[in-house]
Amino acid sequence: MHPQLVLWLMAAALSVTLNRICSSSTLNTISDADKIVSLPGQPNVNFGQYAGYITVDEKQERALFYYFAEAKADPASKPLVLWLNGGPGCSSIGVGAFCEHGPFKPSGGVLLKNDYSWNKEANMLYLESPVGVGFSYSVNNTYYNSVDDEMTARDNLAFLHKWFKKFPVYKERDLFITGESYAGHYVPQLAMLIVQSKLFKLKGIAIGNPLLEFNTDFNSRAEFFWSHGLISDATYESFNTICNYSQIRRQAQSGTLTPVCSRVASEASREISKYIDTYGVTLDVCLSTISSQSAALNKLQETEKIDVCIEDETVKYLNRKEVQEALHARLVGISTWTVCSDVLRYKMQNLDIPTITILGELVKSGIHVLVYSGDQDSAIPLLGTRTLVNKLAKQLELNTTVPYRVWFEQRQVAGWTQVYGDILSYATVRGASHEAPFSQPERSLVLFSSFLGGRPLPEGLLSESAIDKHN
Ligand SMILES: *[C@@H]1O[C@H](CO)[C@@H](O)[C@H](O)[C@H]1NC(C)=O
Ligand SMILES: *[C@@H]1O[C@H](CO)[C@@H](O)[C@H](O)[C@H]1NC(C)=O
Ligand SMILES: *[C@@H]1O[C@H](CO)[C@@H](O)[C@H](O)[C@H]1NC(C)=O
Repeated sequence: MHPQLVLWLMAAALSVTLNRICSSSTLNTISDADKIVSLPGQPNVNFGQYAGYITVDEKQERALFYYFAEAKADPASKPLVLWLNGGPGCSSIGVGAFCEHGPFKPSGGVLLKNDYSWNKEANMLYLESPVGVGFSYSVNNTYYNSVDDEMTARDNLAFLHKWFKKFPVYKERDLFITGESYAGHYVPQLAMLIVQSKLFKLKGIAIGNPLLEFNTDFNSRAEFFWSHGLISDATYESFNTICNYSQIRRQAQSGTLTPVCSRVASEASREISKYIDTYGVTLDVCLSTISSQSAALNKLQETEKIDVCIEDETVKYLNRKEVQEALHARLVGISTWTVCSDVLRYKMQNLDIPTITILGELVKSGIHVLVYSGDQDSAIPLLGTRTLVNKLAKQLELNTTVPYRVWFEQRQVAGWTQVYGDILSYATVRGASHEAPFSQPERSLVLFSSFLGGRPLPEGLLSESAIDKHN
């Protein structure tokens, strides 16, 4: 037998016995093998954690890996939320759970408690999808050669179906599906399959900085770069007259970048420079991931409240043998866990599939839809997203129920919002990156909590005296 498999089975057996001794969970038996006793270096917590595999295809031995963190308090009264990261090919556990809104953040070999964890509000299910991503695998690796949106949605549906067999108490729970970036494809596509199959109690979906429509989303990058001072007037002009970003992206993807478009792209890259995180243009960059380090530049990072190197920490953490054992995870056909897959060959033409139309179908089926934008992201900027949602509302003839206005977290503006027909919402998160909960955890948690509760975003309680003090 494969040595890793032996260890995995031993870890699984161990977790069953320990679970019997200190069973604080609402769950039982079938899911016991997946119960996490404790993650290396984690602080004490009193919520249940589970991780393991769901085989979605027995014959082809395709299995998806999940991590499930039950709600911190009263999990029985809280909804179930599935979270998906994008890429295509990036890990929801690596990014979503460990860098964004999971219960812990890796730091210096241990796990720190995340005060703004989304499992304050919900039972959080993180799924590494499709196979080939993270710890998810296909033993027949020919499968990796051409994975597309349809295959991904089908496997995700099969995953949920079987996951509910393992966690039957959650089957009747309100279900929300959330994600960001390329999950602007995964989330609506899976939601549509669920609506059609009427299998689960899907209440709503929320997607952050999502890819919804290729041309609008990618072309909005030029204006974002320009208005944030990242490119010159001349280069902005080139984007508008010579070659726009959707053309560049399309050509680059198919390996047919023309000299004209190539010139525009490289001029923009030179001006933006490699020391800017285009996923959050006001964030510092993690210098260790950008070639040579400079002591002087490194100093800048000391004042940062956000750990911009958290992805490096996560990669180190998830590659530790004892961490993988605690998670019941295995490396199948790969030698290291990576944030984004090295083995998956996703069908990149699928980026062209517009999913904004699916959002319309979902709204018509009574599913609540929240689209939000971290407003400092230049990868999928708010400019394109806001336009797309506005246009959709018009097409659906949804009247504005909350006119464009600010919303608050504590006593500061946390972003802007507009609601259409009490079912379709748009919101920005001020000062947030592509991965909004990573850079603005407090604000993102307020957004998440309001969305789940069906409440309008806080209008703010700034008293007159507080305003006076500012003046
Ligand atoms: C492996 O997967 C490929 C692609 O999905 C499929 O065509 C092939 O038949 C599979 N091979 C085996 C041995 O099942
Ligand atoms: C961008 O390029 C596409 C493809 O050539 C073109 O159809 C579109 O009009 C252009 N959009 C803008 C905003 O220039
Ligand atoms: C939307 O507003 C228009 C104009 O005020 C009104 O005629 C229409 O009935 C409204 N539609 C809905 C669905 O409320």
